[in-house]
Amino acid sequence: MTRVFLASRSPKKVAELERILRDVQPDVEVVGLGAVAPYDEPAETEPTFEGNALLKARVGLAASGLATLADDSGLCVDALNGMPGVLSARWSGTAKDDAANNALLLAQLRDTPAQRRGAEFRCAVALCMPDGQEEIARGVMRGRIVEEPRGSTGFGYDPIFVPNAQPQGEQFTNAELSAEAKDAISHRGKSLRAIAPVLARLLTAAPSRPR
Ligand code: IMP
Repeated sequence: MTRVFLASRSPKKVAELERILRDVQPDVEVVGLGAVAPYDEPAETEPTFEGNALLKARVGLAASGLATLADDSGLCVDALNGMPGVLSARWSGTAKDDAANNALLLAQLRDTPAQRRGAEFRCAVALCMPDGQEEIARGVMRGRIVEEPRGSTGFGYDPIFVPNAQPQGEQFTNAELSAEAKDAISHRGKSLRAIAPVLARLLTAAPSRPR
């Protein structure tokens, strides 16, 4: 069994990656931050999702010695010139205050008409291999910002974002979709599905081993 490290505290992301990887590379165990010796995680100081993902994956590889993946993501709103972008988690000033972030974004878009409320979630996944190879995969979920929050699943900006890619033109917010329905069209699902075959190829060439 080859071990791969996903530098994330989210058991949900670890399970999602393992599910996706299993299709292209059986015999892979994905472990999260809880399974490696504690280390100082880097602050997300880069101006791009790719830069922050690489920062986290490089430090994770140095700490674990395993092939390491890390992701960074956020919401980019057309009418705000792509913001909040890499500032998504702390848009209202306090890190990870989802309700305050959503309220601020809705206030900023109060006078923006429906046809100009386009937005997209973006995700970058970085892969760092023990032999020094580095790869990046990206995923985008296009949609629009609604006027009132709806739904209770998911996290972050999910209650105010309606993705375009819905069957029969349904207008659910991300927070009204099941986790599986969201994963199938999400920025994170797309970027993980794009990096999985790359990881499988590199692992086959040079399996990573714990230190
Ligand atoms: P992270 O890259 O998972 O840390 O996400 C950064 C921030 O972007 C989160 O705190 C959310 O505010 C926002 N975000 C990223 N992906 C999603 C998503 O799938 N739904 C809602 N918000 C998201």
